[in-house]
Amino acid sequence: LPRCEMIKTEKVGEKSNVGLITFNRPRQFNALCLQLIKEVADTLEHFDNDETVGATVITGNEKHFSAGADIKEMAGKEFAASYKKDFLVDWDRIRTVKKPIIAAVNGYAFGGGNELSMICDIVYAGEKAVFSQPEINIGTIPGAGGTQGWSRFGSKSWAMEVCLTGNRFTAQEAQMAGIVSRIFPPKELVSEAIKLGEKISSKSPILIQMIKEAVKVAYETNMQQGLQYERRLFHSTFATNDQKEGMTAFAQKRKPNWTGN
Ligand code: CAA
Repeated sequence: LPRCEMIKTEKVGEKSNVGLITFNRPRQFNALCLQLIKEVADTLEHFDNDETVGATVITGNEKHFSAGADIKEMAGKEFAASYKKDFLVDWDRIRTVKKPIIAAVNGYAFGGGNELSMICDIVYAGEKAVFSQPEINIGTIPGAGGTQGWSRFGSKSWAMEVCLTGNRFTAQEAQMAGIVSRIFPPKELVSEAIKLGEKISSKSPILIQMIKEAVKVAYETNMQQGLQYERRLFHSTFATNDQKEGMTAFAQKRKPNWTGN
């Protein structure tokens, strides 16, 4: 695993097949400084290349997921340098990770913290999670996908209210909006997220990768193109050993033995 200072990284689950990234800046409310995001991207890329890992959970601590981008680090930035050398470039590396990423959000998910959870593929929240895009209150606007994520995964009305006001929203409201799938008691949240990661890791890695790719296309293209993309990937599953194995195992009434090929 890459050496990290701002996050803790480990492999968890009964078979050590789930990556776990835990933000480790508790005194700064896990503010996402550039180094922290680089470490997250490095670690996710490492797990993408680790055949023993099938999914990764990203979490903070029980009090807060993250209060967003590091405001003190950002405060002195100027337009020209920011435009020429995009300081959020490591965020985009997280968007290209191939294996599923699960966010386990307890407490505050503000600004970039909320945006990072929306970059993840599945969001589980603790009952006391609080979501907000407070950028409007500190003289800027969301920059890591807040306006787009709330619009595409939630709705226009949610996106406008969240981003225009900086208001705080509960886990239940975030679930209603569509950005959270399930809610758990805070103490059970991470273990539930790891269980989900273990379940995903028990499937065929190549098919899991195809599903993630296909679902992401739904948010980037129109229905007809998305359906065609899915159909092409579906057809291509018949070139995999795991399709042969899965359907043979079904006929033989036994458990499939996935190889990821
Ligand atoms: N960046 C840097 N430091 C932060 C931080 C952040 N986003 N959030 C909290 N901190 C620091 C505080 O500066 C403080 O540090 P010191 O003790 O050294 O002063 C420490 O964490 C504790 O914070 P508070 O004293 O403010 O604690 P609180 O309990 O009163 O409030 C909070 C907690 C509600 C999270 C409040 O700190 C807050 O509103 N933080 C800012 C939230 C925010 O605006 N996030 C958006 C960032 S911009 C962004 O994310 C852009 C993007 O889209 C990429």
